[in-house]
Amino acid sequence: MAVKILAASPFLGITALVALIALFLGFSFKFMPRQRLFSVEELALHNGTDESLPILLGILGSVFDVSKGKSHYGIGGGYSHFAGRDASRAFVSGNFTGDGLTDSLRGLSSTEVKSIVEWRDFYYRSYKYVGKLVGRYYENQGNPTKYLKGVEAKAARGAQLLEKQKIEEAKQPSCNSRWSQDEGGEVWCDVGFPRLVQRPLEIALTGKMSKRCACFREDQLDQSGLEVYEGCDDLAKKCRV
Ligand SMILES: *[C@@H]1O[C@H](CO)[C@@H](O)[C@H](O)[C@H]1NC(C)=O
Ligand SMILES: *[C@@H]1O[C@H](CO)[C@@H](O)[C@H](O)[C@H]1NC(C)=O
Repeated sequence: MAVKILAASPFLGITALVALIALFLGFSFKFMPRQRLFSVEELALHNGTDESLPILLGILGSVFDVSKGKSHYGIGGGYSHFAGRDASRAFVSGNFTGDGLTDSLRGLSSTEVKSIVEWRDFYYRSYKYVGKLVGRYYENQGNPTKYLKGVEAKAARGAQLLEKQKIEEAKQPSCNSRWSQDEGGEVWCDVGFPRLVQRPLEIALTGKMSKRCACFREDQLDQSGLEVYEGCDDLAKKCRV
């Protein structure tokens, strides 16, 4: 009967077709997990307290289902403070108290930001991606915010700097080192003499100065910026630290 009517009326037929397409689109949107957007409040319900809901975690605005890691992310688990929220900063700060549980990365260095992006990659590999958290990292249509683009650019810059640092440092071999409870620390060179040197690019990378021990040949020892270990002879191959 219905088919007959459809066939009889081209107008009705088109209407039915449009309705079918709309139904199909609605159906696929519903089942396309990539389209799911969460509010902070919705995400908060998925903190492991309500056993009927999956445990979800946000990082850089990406939301993952971590239910299969319930022993870690569920109530009483070691990572439970990550559940039901985006606490991106805590992945590097290790601060799980009060305002430490924030998604703001303000003031973090490029290596720290890079490390958070690597954590997000870890979740992509290990858990199911379920959607986006609307807020700092995604606007309400699900598009990335300027903040997220800035974070990703900073992480990329960090990766470049680290690579450059590795190349720079490879030019000057590092000292061997060991440490024991009884004898304390010791550095030594198989070839050359131990000197403390400023790590290049460290300020740009971490915002802090840091030094490393590298081995220099005798004819390199008058370079500027080389520091002899305290209490160690100029030409000693081994120094206590
Ligand atoms: C989980 O979220 C619910 C609802 O927001 C809240 O009542 C409960 O205290 C939270 N549990 C934990 C462990 O944070
Ligand atoms: C954690 O972060 C809060 C808020 O920024 C701060 O008050 C607190 O001192 C921090 N705790 C640690 C151990 O760093």
